Amino acid sequence: MPFSTAEIDAFRKETPACQEVIHFNNAGAALQPLNVQKVVNDHLALEYRLGGYEAAAIRAEQSAGFYPIFARLLNAKPSEIAFASSATDAYNRALSAIPFQEGDLILTTENDYVSNQIAFLQIQKRHGAKLKIAPESEVGGVDIERMQELIRTLHPKLVAVTHMPTSNGLIQDVYAIGKTCQAENITYLVDACQTAGQVPLDVQAMGCDFLSATCRKFLRGPRGTGFLFVSERIIKKGWAPQYLDLHSALWTAYDKFEPQLDARRFELWERNHAMVQGASAAADYALSVGLDRVAEYTQQIAASLREQLSELPQIQITDQGKKLGAIVTFHIPEQDPQVLLQQLRAASIHGSISWGDYARYDMGRKAVPWVLRWSPHYYNTIEEVEKATKKIFKIICC
Ligand SMILES: Cc1ncc(COP(=O)(O)O)c(C=O)c1O
Repeated sequence: MPFSTAEIDAFRKETPACQEVIHFNNAGAALQPLNVQKVVNDHLALEYRLGGYEAAAIRAEQSAGFYPIFARLLNAKPSEIAFASSATDAYNRALSAIPFQEGDLILTTENDYVSNQIAFLQIQKRHGAKLKIAPESEVGGVDIERMQELIRTLHPKLVAVTHMPTSNGLIQDVYAIGKTCQAENITYLVDACQTAGQVPLDVQAMGCDFLSATCRKFLRGPRGTGFLFVSERIIKKGWAPQYLDLHSALWTAYDKFEPQLDARRFELWERNHAMVQGASAAADYALSVGLDRVAEYTQQIAASLREQLSELPQIQITDQGKKLGAIVTFHIPEQDPQVLLQQLRAASIHGSISWGDYARYDMGRKAVPWVLRWSPHYYNTIEEVEKATKKIFKIICC
């Protein structure tokens, strides 16, 4: 069911910054709702009053609430959730647990995130693993049938897919790929950094072994928070990240240690408890808003943004794919993107730039050196779309 005007108004009231800015930078870091701000501020106040360890002890139950709420968000078990300080932190912990050997194959896509691509190249260099990039389809996005065929014939050690890239509105069909990985018993790692909080996520239906994300983007949580889903299959295999600490493992004898028997083996002890509680409040808020409805609304508002922007011939929309989400990217030849971004910021319109070397395959194929990224959320309105579009037209045309 679409959101009513009254519901959107309520979301905006619970996000006071909406009165002052047009925030189209949810793919960077979203505006946090009041409940998140309150939980974070309350815990910080307690820390200032009592000290960090004492505050953590008093609010231990609230901090522990992270696991069940993220399990609900993903249709997982609390024991399959690990806290991380960022999406990359979560992703690298997962990668470090996979015992790569010479000749092992990593199968990925052209639209996988830049830091993931760098990590694959490191694994190639360090362990002698091989890297295969699956071909793209005509419409954009990985060719699912070819990818499935590659999984069946090459039997990679790891299939790694980014659900939604950082610089393209594309949403990849991670569910179809997961079915083949499950059937072939292949380790499957999904980067859901841009889709967490934007669309519903179901790790059971996806059949993934690992799923990583941050909480600061569409989930609307605080910076410095992220999570990793680790399936029970991985724990049963005995895989653990390369380095453990006193929280992720127990020192059981002078010469022995035992990794924890759940996803905690993917965590470290230290964390910012205020932010952990803020992240849980954000996940709770997202679930109460309803992710099916968020996906429907944000896809519509992003489609309007693309339609309105494309009315100006100078603007080249660069999103490509069968299914598009709430990231809108465009290139404007002969404009300086930094100057443009500053002019928009001065008008309280927030967006960001993605550079060509963040997405070498994708932007290389599109032959653009940069794109401007506008990423609306459910607290944005069609009036904001019109206002922002008018402003950018004015900047470009005068
Ligand atoms: C698709 C994708 N994956 C991973 C990341 C990395 O997230 P973090 O900065 O939290 O490590 C980003 C950040 O923009 C992203 O867009």
